[in-house]
Amino acid sequence: MTRLAGKTALVTGAARGIGAAIAQAFVTEGAEVILTDIDAKAGQATADALGARFALLDVASERDWAAIARQFPTLDVLVNNAGITGFEGVFDGAPPAHDPEHARLDDWRAVHAVNLDGTFLGCRYGIGAMRAKGAGSIINISSRSGLVGIPMAAAYASSKAAIRNHTKTVALYCAGQGLKIRCNSIHPAAIMTPMWEPMLGTGPDRAERQAAMVADTPLQRFGRADEVAALAVLLASDEAGYMTGAELTIDGGILAGSAAAPGS
Ligand SMILES: NC(=O)c1ccc[n+]([C@@H]2O[C@H](COP(=O)([O-])OP(=O)(O)OC[C@H]3O[C@@H](n4cnc5c(N)ncnc54)[C@H](O)[C@@H]3O)[C@@H](O)[C@H]2O)c1
Repeated sequence: MTRLAGKTALVTGAARGIGAAIAQAFVTEGAEVILTDIDAKAGQATADALGARFALLDVASERDWAAIARQFPTLDVLVNNAGITGFEGVFDGAPPAHDPEHARLDDWRAVHAVNLDGTFLGCRYGIGAMRAKGAGSIINISSRSGLVGIPMAAAYASSKAAIRNHTKTVALYCAGQGLKIRCNSIHPAAIMTPMWEPMLGTGPDRAERQAAMVADTPLQRFGRADEVAALAVLLASDEAGYMTGAELTIDGGILAGSAAAPGS
């Protein structure tokens, strides 16, 4: 288990969920890992459990990224994983509208600030931190929602689509600069993490809701965070040396077909 031996990796939003699973897989593969998150308490606890380091980082903050660049000036692998749907938190009444007719501009911007600005700032830092070695791997966590329209989560879908595109821009820019800095995106769907909690609720219909959410998924189940982490390990490793600007879906087969496809 040494596919990432000798590499230093920084993962954003690593306190829990997919980010924590990626950090764990990287540690298992021999990388030196820096976990970062906006949640210092959970982030430190996750890092302690892995025997890794933790640094506070709000990915939407340019000042926080500057501090990270001073603390960790060189890097081999960066995972821009931190992301929000806009439905987090406890709401007084109904959750905010995120459809294209009723969404508030502030709510739209808040989602883009974390998902898109955070990824842009991360890539900018990552390129600088990998330039000295002239090589590295930047992995952006987009979503299935970046590839199709999502009527009730417009900002989330828009920000994830922009991450997909920015990934390709970064890949081409780095290649054009003669750098072996690769940049690829991962597009998960329906991975069981705390992100789903506000949508699943704690009511008696929780199991029913969960089953309904994967009813149209060909593999008929939610994915696991460690299954996404396995893809991140591949992209971080030298085995993926010829992969850049690529988008990898991990979605139980959802995007393999559509309701418009001929039935069986
Ligand atoms: N779970 C899924 O089904 C799924 C599907 C597609 C894409 N994704 C993407 O995968 C990534 C991780 O999702 P998850 O399911 O593990 O989510 P999660 O909500 O379980 O974890 C997200 C982590 O990001 C942190 N975070 C939030 N805002 C931050 C900020 N401004 N700066 C730094 N950290 C911040 C949170 O504190 C949390 O630790 C996200 O980008 C998400 O959009 C998830």
